[in-house]
Amino acid sequence: MDRLTYSQEELLSSVAYDQPLIANGVRCHGGFVAGQYRSPRAALRGPAIAAWQAQLRARGVPLIEIASELVPPHYPSAAQGALLLREGVREPLVRTLTTIAIIEGFGAMIRDQRVPDLARCVVEPLEGTACAHLAAGLFEAHARDEAGHRSEGGHKQMWEAARDLALETPPVPNDVLMRLMTGRRGAARQRLFPQLDDAFEELLAVMVNVLVIEVFAADTFRWAEALLGDAEVSVRPREAAEVVGYIRSDESPHVEYLRTALSELRARTLRGEAGGELPGSAVVDGLLTRTLRVLTSQRPRLQREETHADIAAAIAGHRDAAGLLRRFEALDEPWTPPDLDASPPRLVQ
Ligand SMILES: [Fe+2]
Ligand SMILES: [Fe+2]
Repeated sequence: MDRLTYSQEELLSSVAYDQPLIANGVRCHGGFVAGQYRSPRAALRGPAIAAWQAQLRARGVPLIEIASELVPPHYPSAAQGALLLREGVREPLVRTLTTIAIIEGFGAMIRDQRVPDLARCVVEPLEGTACAHLAAGLFEAHARDEAGHRSEGGHKQMWEAARDLALETPPVPNDVLMRLMTGRRGAARQRLFPQLDDAFEELLAVMVNVLVIEVFAADTFRWAEALLGDAEVSVRPREAAEVVGYIRSDESPHVEYLRTALSELRARTLRGEAGGELPGSAVVDGLLTRTLRVLTSQRPRLQREETHADIAAAIAGHRDAAGLLRRFEALDEPWTPPDLDASPPRLVQ
């Protein structure tokens, strides 16, 4: 069995690069070894996650998987985005790309996530697991990947670079952050398992939420690589799509450590605050189903409505507004959220 315990320093260490990644003139994390892009902080984080997953397999514990049919397609589609850009309607896409960059930067908040004493919350031991490393390297590495660290840009800066490479440093609407902040004030999260320690349920809910967001982001990457890599509408298609591809490969450890840690907890017994025990599977599956319900229906619907309003407003200034709107709508690919009751969280051995 490979090593199961790592120091924070080890989980944050990168391979030695021949060349750093410079995206549109900005020094970013990661770099190249023999011409191949290698993600930052991956020298031992990748092997560590693989070892924790191998440990689960050896014990016959399944890994949680979010089925790809649950992923809502990006709106507007790449074809709709390309139509808008060909017709000179740029602002809605600049807004979308800028919003993605800002949200990536918010990812730094994961380093502030409180991890309560897990020995108090979980009956079985957690030594040598991903769970035991959350507050000891995994959250910090994740935060640095998203928001950058010291002099190196992270995903926030890489998305800005991809946008600026493809669209020649377009003017950015000045209310992007403001709208994001006012739109984000959701209601406080309801407790689903009030028997659990408050901070422990909060930790689990955040991990489940971030896992689903990370998995769903895969579609945004496909969308951006297609659109920003389209030579008809992108000024530097190869470079822009490459930067998105680098971000995509950096996301893989995020999905993997989160689903590993949640699968570890799923196979254990959770301790109630006032005594009593709960199977981890009931808690993790319950939280996962709740998150998937919101993120496959309500959230894409609201996002679509808001984006559609922006696009319609931007199209209104086009010389043939009615015709362009018709062509835009004709490219629409309707999508129905899957029935979650018919497809419980998928497990793989
Ligand atoms: Fe990211
Ligand atoms: Fe991520």
